[in-house]
Amino acid sequence: MGWVDAIRDHGNLLFIHLRDIRGIVQVVFDPGVSKQSCETAAALRQEDVIKVTGSVALREKGTENPYLKTGDIEVFAKELHVLSKSRPLPFQISEKAMVFGEELQSSPENVEEDLRLRYRYLDFRRPSIQELFIRRYEILKCVREYLDQQNFIEVETPILTKSTPEGARDYLVPSRVHQGHFYALPQSPQLFKQILMVGGMDRYFQIVRCFRDEDLRPNRQPEFTQLDLEASFIDEEFIYEVVEELTARMFALGGIILPRPFPRMTYREAMERYGTDRPDLRFDMAFEDVTDILQDTGYSVFRQVIKMGGRIKGFCVKGQAMALSKNVLQNEYAMKIVPSFGAKGMTWMKVIEGRLQSNIVQFFSEGELEELMNRFGATEGDVLMMIADVSTDLINRCLCSLRLHVAERLKLIPEDLHAPLWVTHFPLFELKEGELSSQHHPFTMPDRTDFDPEDKEALLQLNSRAYDLVINGEELGGGSIRIHDMETQQRIFQALGLSEEETESKFGFFLRALEYGAPPHGGLALGLDRIIAMILKARSIREVIAFPKNRRAVCPLTRAPSLVKQSQLKELGLKVEKGPEASATEALGAVQGDMAGNGVEEPEKISTEQVKHVAKLARLRLSDPEVTAFQKDLNAILDYVETLNELDTRKVQPMSHVLPIKNVWRADAPRKSNKSRSILSNAPRKEKSYFRVPKILEG
Ligand code: AMO
Repeated sequence: MGWVDAIRDHGNLLFIHLRDIRGIVQVVFDPGVSKQSCETAAALRQEDVIKVTGSVALREKGTENPYLKTGDIEVFAKELHVLSKSRPLPFQISEKAMVFGEELQSSPENVEEDLRLRYRYLDFRRPSIQELFIRRYEILKCVREYLDQQNFIEVETPILTKSTPEGARDYLVPSRVHQGHFYALPQSPQLFKQILMVGGMDRYFQIVRCFRDEDLRPNRQPEFTQLDLEASFIDEEFIYEVVEELTARMFALGGIILPRPFPRMTYREAMERYGTDRPDLRFDMAFEDVTDILQDTGYSVFRQVIKMGGRIKGFCVKGQAMALSKNVLQNEYAMKIVPSFGAKGMTWMKVIEGRLQSNIVQFFSEGELEELMNRFGATEGDVLMMIADVSTDLINRCLCSLRLHVAERLKLIPEDLHAPLWVTHFPLFELKEGELSSQHHPFTMPDRTDFDPEDKEALLQLNSRAYDLVINGEELGGGSIRIHDMETQQRIFQALGLSEEETESKFGFFLRALEYGAPPHGGLALGLDRIIAMILKARSIREVIAFPKNRRAVCPLTRAPSLVKQSQLKELGLKVEKGPEASATEALGAVQGDMAGNGVEEPEKISTEQVKHVAKLARLRLSDPEVTAFQKDLNAILDYVETLNELDTRKVQPMSHVLPIKNVWRADAPRKSNKSRSILSNAPRKEKSYFRVPKILEG
C-alpha cells in the first residue's frame, strides 16, 4: 500500500512507482497477468493511494534501476484497489533523481516556501523531507539516551504560566475564569527548572517548546524547541563537559566530528577580535588594533580620529591581493559597502613586491608601514582593511560585517568545517535605552556579590558567570551558574530598577523558594532547531520544524493567527480596539519597514546566485552591488506578496477571468497608435503573415 509516485504508460504495459515512507518499488501492470487491474491502473494519477497485490520478480537484465534501492526487482500486479484519489497537485512531489531513467527536476528548493507550507502534508511526502524528520527524531533519541545515562530526569513544566524574562515579548493567554488576568506562554522554563533544583531534583532536563514574540530572523521562530537542562552542586566545568559530549554525539549523527575540547574565549576578547559575541572561527581575519602605531601619522583622517580619542582597527586578508582589485577595494568596499554598514569609510593597503601599496600609502612613514605589516603579520599578496572611528562599538560592528562580507565573497569559509566555541565572562548588565538590563537573564550569578545596586557605573563593570555555545558563528545555546541566595537575587532586581512591590508580584514565589535552602546550581539551554538544522545542513530552521510559521509569524497551513468570534471575545471579557482592516494595513507597514532595513541580515528567499542566474538569462551584466540591490528588491516584493495571502478576502468579489482569457484594454489608452502592425513597422523582415524579429531585443 502506498502513494503513486510516478506513472509511465508503455501502451501494452503500465509501470508505476509505489511509494511510502520506507521507499519506492516498481509495480508492473501487465494485461497478461490481470486485465482488470490494468484497466483500473489506466485511470491512476500521481498521489492516489492504492493497494496492490502481486508477485515480486527479479527485473530482466539491463532493466534494473540503479537509482532505486529496490531497483533490481519489480512487482507484477494481480489486484489493484484504489483506496483514495488525489486532486491535481499544486507542485511536483516525486523527487527521485531518476524515474524510469528520466531525470526529474523536482526538489523542495524549487517550490515557493509558503506554498510548500500551505500544503505541508504533500511536502512531507517527499522522501527528503521525511528523512529530515526521521533524523531529527534520532537526534532527540540520542539526547535522551545520553542524559539518561548521566542520571538526568526529564520533567515537564507548565505552558500556561507566568512571564519569565528572556528579553522578548510574551505571548499572552487570557483567562476566562479570572477575567482581566493572563497566563504567559513560557519564553523558557527558567524559573521552574531552578525551582526543581530547590526541590532537590538534582539533574533535570526537558525537550521543551518555548515561545517568544520577537522580530523574526531566518534562525528564529515564535515557538521553538530547547533542550533545557539544569544541575545542582556543580560549576561551569560540569556544564562544559556534559554539553560538549552531548553536542559531539548529536553532530556525530550527521557524520560531523567536532574538535574537543571546545575552545573558550571571553566576551571581551570576542568583541575586540571579531566584533561579535558569536564569532565564526572557521576562518581567521581577527582584528588588530593599530592606533598606537599611527599616533603621529601624516594621514590626516587617522590622525584626527586618534586626536578625538578614537581608534583604528583592521584585519588582514591573506593572499587575496589579486582577487581584491583596487577598483573593488576603493569603489565598492570603501565607497559603498562599508558606508552601508554605518562607518564613514575604509582604508585598504596591499602587499605587492614586499611593500604596502594603496591610494594613500604616501601619507605614511616607512616606519609606520613596516610596523603595520608586522602587526597584521602581512606578507606578499595580503590585503589590509582598516576602519577608524571615535566609537569602538561602531568599528567593531562594521569590521564584523566587513569580515563576513569579504569571507563570503571570496569563499574563504570552509563549508564542511565546524568550529565550536564557548564564549564566557559576559557583562552582567548592558544598557538598553539608557536603562540597565540583564545581558542574559536576572538569575545569572555575577562574578562578585559585593555590589551596590544603586551604583550604575560599577554595575556595568560586573561580569557574569554566563556562557554561550557558538558554532560557525551561530549561537546554539546559552546558560549560566545561577544566584542561589535570596538576598543577592533581591539586590539584582533592585539594580534592574524593580520596586519591592514589582519584585514581589512578579517573582515573590521564586524568592520564597530561595529562602528554603537552595543548592548552588546552574544550567543551559540548547536551541534544538538550530542545532538540528546545522547538523542536517538544512537551509533554515523552518526546514526541520514540522509546521513552522513563515517570516510574518503566520502558519500558512492553518492561517493562524486568525480572527475570533465576537462571542469568544465577550466570554473572555476582551474587546479588540483595532479592526481587521487596521491590522492588515499594519502588516503592510511592517513589510515596508523591513524593506528599509539596513541589509546586513542576508535576506534568504532569493539568493545572490538566483539573481545572477536570472541576470544571465536576461543577458544583463550586474555588478556585485547591483546584485545585492536586486536581491533586496526581489525579496521585498516576495515579502509583500506573502502578506497578500494574509488579507481577509472573503468578502472581496473575484476579479480575474477564469476562461477564456481575453485581452483587456485600458479605457484611457490611445488605441489607434498601439496597433501591432505600426509597432512592428520597423521590423526588417516578414515571413508569411508574421514579422521576423531578432531573438533578443536590446533596449
Ligand atoms: P537563551 O535565551 O539563550 O537561554 O536560549 C537558548 C537557545 O535557544 C535558541 N533560541 C531560539 N531558537 C529559535 N528561535 C528563537 N526565537 C530562539 N530564541 C532562542 C538559541 C539560544 O541559544 N533560560 C535560558 C537558558 C539558561 O540559562 O539555562 C535561555 O532560554 O539557540
